[in-house]
Amino acid sequence: MDHFLYRDGTLFAEDVPVAEIAAQVGTPFYCYSTATFERHFRLFDEALEGTDHLVCYAMKAASNQAILKTLAALGAGMDVVSGGEYARAKAAGVPGDRIVFSGVGKTCEEIHAALTGGIRQFNVESEPEMAAINQVALELGVKAPITIRVNPDVDAKTHAKIATGKSENKFGIPISRAREVYAHAASLSGLDVIGIDVHIGSQLTQLEPFRLAYEKVAELTETLRADGHNIRRLDLGGGLGIPYERSNEAPPLPVEYGAMVKETLGHLGCELEIEPGRLIAGNAGIMVSKVIYVKEGEDRQFMIIDGAMNDLIRPAMYEAHHDIIPVVEAAPGEEPATYDIVGPVCESGDTFAKGRTMSEVKADDLVAFRSAGAYGAVMASEYNSRPLIPEVLVKDDQFAVIRPRPTFEEMINRDTIPEWL
Ligand code: LLP
Repeated sequence: MDHFLYRDGTLFAEDVPVAEIAAQVGTPFYCYSTATFERHFRLFDEALEGTDHLVCYAMKAASNQAILKTLAALGAGMDVVSGGEYARAKAAGVPGDRIVFSGVGKTCEEIHAALTGGIRQFNVESEPEMAAINQVALELGVKAPITIRVNPDVDAKTHAKIATGKSENKFGIPISRAREVYAHAASLSGLDVIGIDVHIGSQLTQLEPFRLAYEKVAELTETLRADGHNIRRLDLGGGLGIPYERSNEAPPLPVEYGAMVKETLGHLGCELEIEPGRLIAGNAGIMVSKVIYVKEGEDRQFMIIDGAMNDLIRPAMYEAHHDIIPVVEAAPGEEPATYDIVGPVCESGDTFAKGRTMSEVKADDLVAFRSAGAYGAVMASEYNSRPLIPEVLVKDDQFAVIRPRPTFEEMINRDTIPEWL
């Protein structure tokens, strides 16, 4: 459930008409709902009720400061994957002991920044990285809290580009080598080995792959404890999917996921962490765009809109489906039309949907891409010199621009001219 609903035939974001925002900020733009963010965070928090747990929002999904502050105010931790994300989390006021640092290639500079600024734990992805964290910690005279990410070799049954838990993927250490790597970690005096981390992929629409992975983690916890390691924290990653195509998708709910987590891992008495990104942010955001032209092709109609692949890359990159809806609903009885929905960028890949049937539109009409809150704005680029589009946050009947649209001048002035020119 989200808070983008029609009232008297026009789309609202909470209590604000989307068309009113478009009139003030121009199109295209991203629009987020505070209530939806809050609701989704709470669903996870409640799903793990009765356990010692922390929901660490995977801020790679949507990392605007206003969004981070909204979630941090509810007690969210953050999962960060770069020095930039760490800096963003700190700037939003998230305390270091609520920030976990994931990612396969943490640099010494990033490790240093996190150790001096405060960190809950590093999720270590390889032995060379473990050595680097140990080294930086020793130089600083501290102990770095770590978990080791294990790769359980489980098929997440999701798009190949976002599956991470198979042995062919670059992530984690093979679970078969875990005992050896934990023994090595325990011998390094700059490390405090506190737990195990696992993340098998994103947009999972079944619980079974999670269950398989978590059962392996449960077994490993007992093995490592028997080896003398004080395993007291389990980071279970993110990955729970959302219904992109509302008419025919119904992925498991956070409460079902939480029940499965308690069933597979509850008996171990560990502190639990989860790192959801998409489920918290995805349906908390839409991208609003305007129809520029409707063009008659030989055998099809093209709806050419002012949003493009540089603003929302998911359809081009993952063949992802986004529901695209009119901001003003069709009058009852009006005939629908079928379109290829495309942006103005000079590539055929700049196609959002093919043969999509929806209500008829004309130039200047507004359309909204649902489920665009996660991996939308954060993956945008200025390809074709299209400035990054603004982000707007709604709360009840108020809205605020939380990232303005740069002017052409601002975009151009970031370039610098060498002396010889
Ligand atoms: N934790 C780790 C270590 C991750 O790598 C990810 C996502 C998450 C948590 C959050 O997963 P989520 O709950 O959002 O599924 N750009 C792609 C998605 C990439 C996901 C990368 N890692 C897309 O647009 O579908």
